[in-house]
Amino acid sequence: MRSQTRCLLLSRIVLRRLTANPRHASKSVAVTPANVAKYEEALKTLARELECVKEHERQKIAEQLHDEFGQDLVLAKMKLGQLLDKLPPRYGGCVEEIDAIIGDLIHHTRAVIHELYPQQLCETGLTAALQSLAEEIQTKHGLICTAKIELTPRRLKDEVQEVLFRAVRELLLNVVKHARASRAKIALTCSPDFVVIEVCDDGQGFDRHKSALSNLSIGKFGLFSVRARLAQLGGNLRIFSRVGKGTRAIITLPTDGA
Ligand SMILES: Nc1ncnc2c1ncn2[C@@H]1O[C@H](COP(=O)(O)OP(=O)(O)OP(=O)(O)O)[C@@H](O)[C@H]1O
Ligand SMILES: [Mg+2]
Repeated sequence: MRSQTRCLLLSRIVLRRLTANPRHASKSVAVTPANVAKYEEALKTLARELECVKEHERQKIAEQLHDEFGQDLVLAKMKLGQLLDKLPPRYGGCVEEIDAIIGDLIHHTRAVIHELYPQQLCETGLTAALQSLAEEIQTKHGLICTAKIELTPRRLKDEVQEVLFRAVRELLLNVVKHARASRAKIALTCSPDFVVIEVCDDGQGFDRHKSALSNLSIGKFGLFSVRARLAQLGGNLRIFSRVGKGTRAIITLPTDGA
């Protein structure tokens, strides 16, 4: 798995170099629209594979953090509580400070595990996960974020839920990072065949005609990767944005995935 990741990253770097430096590119491959389209297709495939590998690695790290790190921290906190009862009172203050530090570590570890692998998605499904994502974005980043989620007629496949959740998270993080918005809205509607999620903001907007390829060459990977993951399941992402007029992103995905 490690070598697969390294290979994918390497391919990405090589492609980025080629696309970032037209002089270099012209020596090896002519920069024609057909070649650019070929690169985009190759990159999409790589992005899809990379996402799968990343997902697997995230899950593995989250499990290890939980099983080997989080559990021991909880045990250490319990043992410290038992020790506190046995120690002379003059040590009490110090033990309580250590107890508080371990408490913080448990809290941070849980936050990292949640970030890596949102268990809520497995436990309570997409609706609850999107709602708490909106709350989290609002509390952490001070952006007023609301979620209007229509119930899906039947439970969506795990993979579909996961791809949708990660796509919405990327779109919201983009709002936080780039939009200078004061509000963001998530709206999920569902027909028997399609799930549609709209994420819009009232921020500064951007020129959406900028080529995905030129974005990639300067390391902007988020939207490209979202598109690649959606396309893998037969879905797509459309973005409507004008400078000064906010941004509206619409995800459409077949309820069963492709
Ligand atoms: N909601 C938004 N408001 C304003 N600009 C946006 C918004 N979403 C995306 N953009 C613009 O589109 C660009 C591409 O977004 P993308 O998610 O692909 O890359 P990134 O966020 O810059 O980097 P990465 O996601 O790889 O960390 C951003 O750099 C930004 O200029
Ligand atoms: Mg991004």
